[in-house]
Amino acid sequence: MKVAVLGATGLVGRTMLKLMGDRAWVSGDPVLLSSARGAGTKLEFAGRQLECKEVSAEDFQGVDITLFSAGGDASRIWGPVAAEAGAWVVDNSSAWRMEEGVSLVVPEINGHLIKPTGGGKGGIIANPNCSTIQVAMAVAPLDRIFSVREAHVTTLQAVSGAGQKAVAELERQEQNPNAEMNEIFPRPIFHNAIPAIGAALADGSYEEEDKVVRELRKILGRKDDLAVTCTATRVPVVTGHSAAVRLVCEKPIDLTKAADALANFKGVEVDPDPHAYMTPREIVGQSTVHVGRLRAEPNNPHALMLWVVADNLLKGAARNAVQIADLLAGKPQS
Ligand SMILES: NC(=O)c1ccc[n+]([C@@H]2O[C@H](COP(=O)([O-])OP(=O)(O)OC[C@H]3O[C@@H](n4cnc5c(N)ncnc54)[C@H](OP(=O)(O)O)[C@@H]3O)[C@@H](O)[C@H]2O)c1
Repeated sequence: MKVAVLGATGLVGRTMLKLMGDRAWVSGDPVLLSSARGAGTKLEFAGRQLECKEVSAEDFQGVDITLFSAGGDASRIWGPVAAEAGAWVVDNSSAWRMEEGVSLVVPEINGHLIKPTGGGKGGIIANPNCSTIQVAMAVAPLDRIFSVREAHVTTLQAVSGAGQKAVAELERQEQNPNAEMNEIFPRPIFHNAIPAIGAALADGSYEEEDKVVRELRKILGRKDDLAVTCTATRVPVVTGHSAAVRLVCEKPIDLTKAADALANFKGVEVDPDPHAYMTPREIVGQSTVHVGRLRAEPNNPHALMLWVVADNLLKGAARNAVQIADLLAGKPQS
């Protein structure tokens, strides 16, 4: 399959290139694309140094699968162009996620929505928001046995979730904690926690919180019958998102069954000890979603609480996108 990557110079783009380096279904060198800023940048793919160029419509001609991680504006422009040229677009941005007719896919949950591409006819498939993916991975197996009615989520999100400029901003503030240097985040992020991610919305929420609410329902195939609330916070962690999740279910909770359902769900690792947990530092570089602090809620037999940690650049972005590409190529990987 001929592949192109738009946003190849970014954190997610580079991670996707690393993951695709061992995919036998990728034929030849992928076409590496960015804005004019990144054109000329040399990037490694499967041990070879390839040059990135500024995106243009011709770049999608003859391409079977193209992975986008260039932000919403670029996705809105180039998604339809690539699809019209016959490519399948796997898009990491939020541009198309809630669009009617666009699948929002976490392969372990709803990978059946993806059919291998036969070539000729393209389209857009959306990769969910990073926090939503890891929360969905933990909620889906529990929903199947207990029928989740409410999901209350508090995220603690790493700065790399906002791209490489955000990582640089934290590093600058570490060097000089007293300087006012907030370009990406609304307040200093070093030694801090910021309960505001994305634009402020009229209903009192921030954009990131709204994404978790709407995307979780779409991935699980649910509507208003699943009540979701979210408070999304940015914390001075470089990589690895955490989420504290409280679920209220139709059926009473059996903690042994909950732990078994999570343990048997591909892509999830769980420690059933209620005091056990993983931290972002411990899971960086891992593909799985880690669940800990699994415990019942006192006085409510229908509620349980858990702690969910995952690498936002891997399962939260690049790995999930490459898993979708594997399905499009007809070569799902374990
Ligand atoms: N980081 C995460 O954990 C994560 C998780 C899920 C989803 N996402 C989404 O993935 C996308 C990329 O995130 P990132 O963290 O990799 O960001 P990043 O490190 O800031 O990289 C952004 C990439 O997009 C390219 N780009 C920006 N504007 C462009 C334009 N107008 N035309 C073509 N290319 C353009 C940049 O190229 P230049 O080199 O030319 O600037 C760069 O390659 C975003 O939509 C983000 O929301 C990120």
